[in-house]
Amino acid sequence: MQNPLKRAIFQRDLWALFDWAAAGQSLPQQRRELEVRLADAIRRLAITSEQVRALPDTYAAALAAQQFAPAYDPLNSRRPFLPPELFRSDGPWVCLSAYSDEPTAIVHFSGRSRFLVFMRLPGGRDATLAYIHKLRSSSETPLLNSGSPSTRLNLALPQFPAGTMVALLRQMIVIDNQGKLTPTALTESVQLRVYHAITPGTEYMNYINGPSSHDQDFFEFRIRRPDLFARRSGGLVLVQPGETEFATFSTHGIDAFESTTPLDQRGGVLERCRACHSDSGIHSVQSRLQWMKLSRSLSTQTDGGKYGDPITWETDVTITRKQQQPDFNLLQDLWKQAPR
Ligand code: HEC
Repeated sequence: MQNPLKRAIFQRDLWALFDWAAAGQSLPQQRRELEVRLADAIRRLAITSEQVRALPDTYAAALAAQQFAPAYDPLNSRRPFLPPELFRSDGPWVCLSAYSDEPTAIVHFSGRSRFLVFMRLPGGRDATLAYIHKLRSSSETPLLNSGSPSTRLNLALPQFPAGTMVALLRQMIVIDNQGKLTPTALTESVQLRVYHAITPGTEYMNYINGPSSHDQDFFEFRIRRPDLFARRSGGLVLVQPGETEFATFSTHGIDAFESTTPLDQRGGVLERCRACHSDSGIHSVQSRLQWMKLSRSLSTQTDGGKYGDPITWETDVTITRKQQQPDFNLLQDLWKQAPR
């Protein structure tokens, strides 16, 4: 297989499988045999750093193809949209970083992708920055009695207005032929949530059928291989309502191989968003627990301030963390031992 894009995607698949194998306990000998073979295949599939740099920017390609509307339409709220200004550094979307040694999207962390969180208030960039600053400098914490069985949402937290949107981007990291973790501009998925209303919520966390559970519209785009390889619209395809999945690259610690719940009982991809994002406004922005920790001394009015670009920060912190993971250390050892 010569095509660098296909090699990178195949490596991505096998790497996920490797990490799954490395995370388990049972059948140690069989596991090791599998890991050795996977590490060898992952190494052989690795592409050069120049080839990594030449991998497609799938988000830009999807925008260029103009398959999706560029903006949310409140009168047609089910219509999917892909915001063209997401990456514009002076645009209305603000990329959020906790600027800590933990990635901001810590629950999604796998080390095989970087995850970027964006927020946009209806008032544009200045309004979004002002709101984030207000939250970070507020004396209110996101949770009350945090860590105890009586943990509650803090309803005194400053709320954002209806029309606010959040996005979560997943972009592929590859291991190049020198064994180096390298970020790419290949967007694997885009999740969007739009708050068309803000209903006063309750203090109960993830209150699925609660008063605020229908305040949002949910969207997701994912790469689909045939489209990606044919360079159709960057390979990004809309997830349709009711669509189910084999969650082989699942996040949030959900392991499809080990799950005892049949796939068809887990419900559709979009139908599940509410299970984790049903609370009122800011209270359903899960990553706030990370990025709100940022010290008040930081001048968030100037975006990253002294910390610089949030995307670079998230990339570095993700890669550094992965380099410290036992699964990656094992992969490196087996990589070195593999016969050439
Ligand atoms: C199993 C729980 C769970 C499900 C299901 C889920 N998410 Fe999330 N989501 C999270 C967590 C946790 C975060 C915070 C980032 C992190 O820590 O990785 C998050 C972050 C996000 C963000 C960034 C803003 C924020 O809330 O921090 C968006 C946008 C998002 N999710 C959209 C979606 C969409 C759309 C769906 C359905 C297709 C979905 N999510 C399904 C748990 C979930």
